[in-house]
Amino acid sequence: MRITVLGSAAGGGFPQWNCNCRNCAGQRVGSLRAKARTQSSIFIRPDDADDGVLFNASPDILEQIRANRALQPARALRDSAIAGVVLIDGQIDHATGLFMLRERSTPLPLWCTDPVAEDLTQGNPVLRVLGHYCGVHRHRIGLDGSPFEVPGVPGLVLRALPLQSKAAPYSPHRDDPVPGDNIGISITDVRSGRSLFYAPGLGEITPAVFDAMAGADAVMVDGTFWTDDEMLTQGVGKKRAHEIGHLAQHGPGGMVEWLSRLPPRTQRWLIHINNTNPILDEDSAERAALAHAGINVCEDGLQLQL
Ligand code: MLT
Ligand code: MN
Ligand code: ZN
Repeated sequence: MRITVLGSAAGGGFPQWNCNCRNCAGQRVGSLRAKARTQSSIFIRPDDADDGVLFNASPDILEQIRANRALQPARALRDSAIAGVVLIDGQIDHATGLFMLRERSTPLPLWCTDPVAEDLTQGNPVLRVLGHYCGVHRHRIGLDGSPFEVPGVPGLVLRALPLQSKAAPYSPHRDDPVPGDNIGISITDVRSGRSLFYAPGLGEITPAVFDAMAGADAVMVDGTFWTDDEMLTQGVGKKRAHEIGHLAQHGPGGMVEWLSRLPPRTQRWLIHINNTNPILDEDSAERAALAHAGINVCEDGLQLQL
C-alpha cells in the first residue's frame, strides 16, 4: 500500500493563523528551519490502484488535494480518488473537510463510530447539513476489532481500536468519555501482509494499544505535544496535553519511551504535531533526540510504501 501524509499538523496547522509562538513566528519569517504543515489527514491506496481511503477530512482538504495530484486521477469530468472517508474522531480538524467534499452527485461514503456519528449529528451537525448537499452514506465502525473494507478499495483491511483520548469540546460527553469517541486504526494490505497502525489522537498506551502498535510494520501516532505542560509554559493555553487527550512525548511514560519498546523493525512516525512542539524546529535538541531514538516526524506530502 501507498500512504500519503496530506496533513501532519494538529488542529490550527503550522504556523497557526493567530500565533506568534517561537515556532510559528520563526517559521513565518524564516529564522527557523521548520516546514509549514496543514491539518491532520492521510490517504492510503493499494499499490496498483488509483482509488483509496481518506483518513480524516481536514479543513485544509482542498489545498491538500491540489498539492497531491494522485487524489485527482481525472478519469471523468467529475472525479476523485477518494473512495471513502474514515474518521478517527469528530474533532474540527478531522471532520470539517467533509463540508468541502459536498459537490458530489452521490452520497459521500463515510465510516465512523456511533459516538462520532452522534456528535456530528448533534453538537456539530455536519452530517445533517451535508444532507442538504450530496448527503452521507454512513457506515458504522464497530469497536470489537472486526475487519472491514471500503468498497472500491479492495485488499485494504481496516480494524478499529477504541482509544483513551477526548471527544470534541462540543460533544455532550466531552468530560465523560465513552468508547468510540476516539479510535486508532490498523490498516493491512492483504497482498503484502504489511500493516500500519494510525492513531493521531492517543491519550494513553493501554496493553491493547501497545499490542496493536507492536503488531504493525509502521506506526503513525500522536505527535501533538513534546511536554504535558507545553501550552502553559509557552503561555498560549491553559490546558495540559493529557486533559485534551494527548500523550506527551518526553519523559517517563511518554511516547518516546513507549516507542522504544517496539520491535526494532517497526517504523516509527509522529503525526498531528501541534505548532508549539519544539520537534517542528529541525535544528532543535528535541528533534535530535527523536532522531537518536529512531523516531521520524511526518511532514506534508510524505509518501510511505508498505
Ligand atoms: C485535538 O486533537 O485535541 C483537537 O483537534 C484540538 C482542536 O480541535 O483544536
Ligand atoms: Mn486534533
Ligand atoms: Zn504557535
